[in-house]
Amino acid sequence: MPMGQITVTEHLLYHQTRSHEATGRFTHLLSDLILGAKIVAREVNKAGLVDILGFTCSNESKDEMLKKLDVFANDVFVHRLERSGVICAVASEEMPDMVVVTDEFQRGDYVVMIDPLDGFSNIDANVSIGSIFSIYRRKSASHKDAELGDALQKGVDQVAAGYVIYGSSTMLVYTTGQGVHGFTMDPSVGEFLLSHPDIRIPQKGKIYSVNEGNWNYWDAPTRQVVEYFKSMDNHLGKPFSSRYIGSLVADFHRNLLFGGIFMYPMDYKNPKKPKGKLRLLYEAHPLAMVVEQAGGLATDGRKRILDLQAEDLHQRVPLFIGSEYDVRKVSELYRQFD
Ligand code: AHG
Ligand code: MN
Ligand code: MN
Repeated sequence: MPMGQITVTEHLLYHQTRSHEATGRFTHLLSDLILGAKIVAREVNKAGLVDILGFTCSNESKDEMLKKLDVFANDVFVHRLERSGVICAVASEEMPDMVVVTDEFQRGDYVVMIDPLDGFSNIDANVSIGSIFSIYRRKSASHKDAELGDALQKGVDQVAAGYVIYGSSTMLVYTTGQGVHGFTMDPSVGEFLLSHPDIRIPQKGKIYSVNEGNWNYWDAPTRQVVEYFKSMDNHLGKPFSSRYIGSLVADFHRNLLFGGIFMYPMDYKNPKKPKGKLRLLYEAHPLAMVVEQAGGLATDGRKRILDLQAEDLHQRVPLFIGSEYDVRKVSELYRQFD
């Protein structure tokens, strides 16, 4: 069958049969996530029209309308997942606590983490934003309500991960541990169709992505790391190109296809409490599974992201993710300071 006509469901069932997740329940879960993404895409694509078509029926400011989009996206995904019949809990970057499915007839064995709208602050500049998801199997007994431990698992325990990017086209990129596959929405049929089978990230990149505005908040080792990519003495023998959109999903997706490294280092904005900005459960773990399945790597500068286990639902980590050679170089540079 020509590549452009394979839907996600067909791909999962017929091309992922080796995957332990090619089950009806998992396919159902992915279909619910996809329906959520289609609903969010519809609203995100309208966001630019908030002023023009006067969607602000009340006297709410455009910002308030757009801020609602973050909450709207969260509610769409949670609403769909809660009723999917295949999950026992869902946790979101937008909610302080996880939602537990208490109806035993509605409960399943999967746990889902979501960043419902990533890069949200860019939406009214018509910059690509995304949704990120991460799927685990529960660890606690099936007949009980899910426990916090079902959410606080190691990244290596994910059974699937992926993201949707709402850009010039809407794309779904996901993995179940059998490689990384990209699907592009064909609006004429309302389906995601296989467009990027077996995505592989180049082993060495030419692009570095970091918010250099944080320079004064970085420690000396981090400055040394960023300098490396701007210097003549890296593997290119010349400076990498700097590309930074400020939407993690958009920056990550470009580097996944073209090669390169995205960095959000630890910053000392609060000298007493240095921290990363990005969330382990909703951003780092899922994208780390995707990038490793595509042949890349993700660390916190020293430790592999997939080996990390969250201690709380909203733990933040430094993130270095992309082409394997470049991410390993970061760890080598940091080790010189240890
Ligand atoms: P979110 O919109 O889910 O809060 O994520 C925003 C994140 C991520 O998308 C992006 O890489 C990062 O914020 C940009 O941060 P800076 O503006 O500090 O560079
Ligand atoms: Mn985010
Ligand atoms: Mn978000």
